[in-house]
Amino acid sequence: MNKLQKDFLWGGAVAAHQIEGAWNLAGKGLSIADVMTSGGNGIPRQVTKGVKAPYYYPNHEAIDFYHRYPEDIALFKELGLKVFRTSIHWSRIFPLGDEEMPNEQGLQYYDDLFDRLLDNGIEPVITLSHFEMPYHLAEAYGGFRDKRVIEFFAHYAETVMKRFKDKVKYWMTFNEINNQADGQHDLHTWTNSGILFEHEATQSEKEAVIYQASINELIASARAVMIGKSINPEFQIGCMMAYVPVYPFSSKPEDQMAALKVMNRRFFYSDIHVRGKVPTYAVKSWQQKGYSIDLSDEEKEVLQQGTVDFIGFSYYMSGTVTTLEKLEGQSITDFDNSKMLTNPYVSSSDWGWQIDPVGLRYTLNIVYERYGLPLFIVENGFGAYDDVHEEPIQDQYRIDYLAAHIHQMKLAIIEDGVDVLGYTPWGIIDIVSFGSGEMDKRYGMIYVDKDNSGEGSLKRRKKASFNWYQKVIATNGEDI
Ligand code: BG6
Repeated sequence: MNKLQKDFLWGGAVAAHQIEGAWNLAGKGLSIADVMTSGGNGIPRQVTKGVKAPYYYPNHEAIDFYHRYPEDIALFKELGLKVFRTSIHWSRIFPLGDEEMPNEQGLQYYDDLFDRLLDNGIEPVITLSHFEMPYHLAEAYGGFRDKRVIEFFAHYAETVMKRFKDKVKYWMTFNEINNQADGQHDLHTWTNSGILFEHEATQSEKEAVIYQASINELIASARAVMIGKSINPEFQIGCMMAYVPVYPFSSKPEDQMAALKVMNRRFFYSDIHVRGKVPTYAVKSWQQKGYSIDLSDEEKEVLQQGTVDFIGFSYYMSGTVTTLEKLEGQSITDFDNSKMLTNPYVSSSDWGWQIDPVGLRYTLNIVYERYGLPLFIVENGFGAYDDVHEEPIQDQYRIDYLAAHIHQMKLAIIEDGVDVLGYTPWGIIDIVSFGSGEMDKRYGMIYVDKDNSGEGSLKRRKKASFNWYQKVIATNGEDI
């Protein structure tokens, strides 16, 4: 076979909190994404205690997808999308997170949204929690620090999986669950598990907390898989990882060991999602560092039972690590005297993300060899400043980035034999950036008229990449 399979899932991806807006409508509760201010290129966002004047919170309105989705779905149909990846806003369904009864208006919204997608021939691919949880769970329980949150998540998963059992087949549990892995988490931003370190803590104190919360989150994920399978055995339930391959900078053997250690720290999460047990390298490291992680035999059994069907992942960039003394870089603790540094063989985006299409082929190969499960590229994209003066907006740089990655994906599938279910580029329509809260870090093939301070008509416009991607899908990736 030298072509992609006929049913290859071409699509587009977004997340609820980055598009919907309507942050306090129809019974929705406050989410941890609603208390994040806007930042900028190189300027971090802040988390406030509740919503406070005079801060600007870009996710409150986002691109108003909540009200405008019929128009947006019409454009997705014109693009030819087969699937659309978004998430359910947990706080739309359970405003506080610990209630027994769900918010019917929230469920109804997703019923309508999924119906509209399906009526237009587009299958929803759904993440249960994409960087958000009800704010109350973070405030009152400390997020996944507290094991009670496992049950709240399981109850939420059961509620939505039952409700949408005939509308959604592809599910993922936690978006980029492994992006909390480095343990060098900044104060004042949420971890993936809903934790905010407000007080100075040592790196090892933070790391121990993050490992415990991660284990709790992984148990919650496994519970969701088990629940989902009991509701509909046809469900395909995956994890969602951020894969950033880290290369040894030189052929010095210690550089290879450093790269292996850094990669294992990230693989820890998919190792558990896929193999159902804590890897030996992690157990050993916890022992050496004196961390006591609470994981009962019963919970170990849950991890074993709730393994995933596929691996969804994001791919944006690669990294490099070295132990060579003469080079400058950012010190890390994974291996003696190791540091991350810029790869001189690749270029970077305006936000310093290192552009490496071959790294996608490499990632697909190593992940497939490691796990042997189908892979789903559910995020890949190029955040860039767009010049809006031409019609359509000329974004050749985005086309170049996406075409180069699709080319490498095809090599991985056709020449290397990797099983890839589909490809959903990130931010198919412009959205609020997660990292910086900007609108001007644009990923979309559809432009949204809104700026970093929230001004704009919200009008949608096609970019040149729209017409390009339409052709890519129509030719099943032949014409890129
Ligand atoms: C991924 C996230 O990490 O990267 C998305 O899943 C995010 O939510 C995307 O938007 C791009 O990051 P950023 O910071 O450019 O929005």
